[in-house]
Amino acid sequence: MTAARGLLAAMALGAAASAATAAPDVLRGEQIYVRCMACHALASDRVGPRHCGLLGRRAGSVPGFDYSPAMKNSKLVWDEKTLDLFIKAPTQFVPGTAMTYDGVADAGERQDLIAYLKKAGQSDACKP
Ligand code: HEC
Repeated sequence: MTAARGLLAAMALGAAASAATAAPDVLRGEQIYVRCMACHALASDRVGPRHCGLLGRRAGSVPGFDYSPAMKNSKLVWDEKTLDLFIKAPTQFVPGTAMTYDGVADAGERQDLIAYLKKAGQSDACKP
């Protein structure tokens, strides 16, 4: 009897754990962001522009960063949808972009990465 109850409890825990993975995982997103750090940082411009304040910002609008004409003229605003499309296939979504990077093919990884960018972009690291 106790063994059976233990098993049921374990099954319930397992179900809870797999339900939790459906929500974006900011910590996993932070690990995926390591790939972007080859060229980007949150608070400073490097090969790519800073990512502080990314969500809600117009594409190609960080003052002083030397964007490609394609990015400057894209008229995009970065939100979950546009970021998902861009990060999936940068050179297809913005033809002519200077971001020569293959992209992140896995939809779940993109979701976690965007959740991280959203949170990190408003974090203390981004406060002046
Ligand atoms: C090989 C270097 C490189 C890598 C790796 C890279 N980027 Fe970029 N990124 C750039 C460059 C260069 C630009 C400017 C593009 C332009 O002007 O066309 C850019 C631009 C961007 C922009 C537009 C920002 C703005 O201000 O409009 C976003 C968003 C972005 N990158 C996200 C990412 C994410 C997320 C990753 C990781 C999955 C990543 N990048 C990986 C080089 C890189």
